[in-house]
Amino acid sequence: MSRFAYVNGRYVPHRAARVHVEDRGYQFADGVYEVCEIRAGRLVDERRHMDRLERSLQELRIAMPMPRNALSLVFRETVARNRVRDGIMYLQVTRGVARRDHAFPPPGTRPSIVITAKNHDLDKLEQGAAEGVAIVSVPENRWPRVDIKSVSLLPNVLAKQAAREQGAKEAWFVDAQGYVTEGSSSNAWIVTREGSVVTRPADFGILRGITRTVVLEVIADHGLTLEERPFTMEEAYAAREAFITSATQFVTPVVRIDGKPVGNGAPGLIASALRRDYHDHAEVV
Ligand code: PDD
Repeated sequence: MSRFAYVNGRYVPHRAARVHVEDRGYQFADGVYEVCEIRAGRLVDERRHMDRLERSLQELRIAMPMPRNALSLVFRETVARNRVRDGIMYLQVTRGVARRDHAFPPPGTRPSIVITAKNHDLDKLEQGAAEGVAIVSVPENRWPRVDIKSVSLLPNVLAKQAAREQGAKEAWFVDAQGYVTEGSSSNAWIVTREGSVVTRPADFGILRGITRTVVLEVIADHGLTLEERPFTMEEAYAAREAFITSATQFVTPVVRIDGKPVGNGAPGLIASALRRDYHDHAEVV
């Protein structure tokens, strides 16, 4: 099936989609992105993704490439043109194309925008979640503003590859104080022996995941005890359950951490319940 990408105002065949060699995203990773789930042809939590996009852009002083309602129409058109039912939409905005200079380009340089959408295999994702995933820990080596969803992802790339090479799905970054920050492309959670759900507060040290925000609502709805505080790897090894959250994984149980089984080594009840109910709480308009 033919795919289309939206590139700076035009829908082009995916295989012909191009950006300029002096795009600042390409040269400096000077840009931001969003990944939004598409379910039954509709965008999940679009409003929150749009809010976070605006915030990331503001923090980096990049202009919104177009008004929010226009962007929303392009989202819909890209999903429709690619005939996506269940999948993801990817959006990237960079500071634009300009003669190479580290400092900001001349005023009036237009931000570049690219949007793509593709189907994913929901059955395969469900199967992965039913089995649970393994994670490994890696030292935190990212800049201190990972709350901005920047395309500058080299440490995340290396961490994910380290996980792959050890047969794991995800890597958890551990900061200099011994606390877990988050995964290379997901937020990190544990459930203590006492049954409290623990996740790091959304300060500058993690990305405020949209899935995380919705899962906090599900936790409250279930009457579960939440502790928003940093946790150590020792706590993770001793946890009853662990799980990760992201727009592409929803809630996915973790069954092994650094080669050690979590709890009894099977997906936990709380993680499974949160996964089951997550989409009832996510916003679809
Ligand atoms: N990643 N933390 C990091 C570092 C992430 O890259 C992501 C998402 C999350 C979870 O955020 P959300 O729940 O809004 O998806 C947390 C996307 C899916 C990606 O890079 O593909």
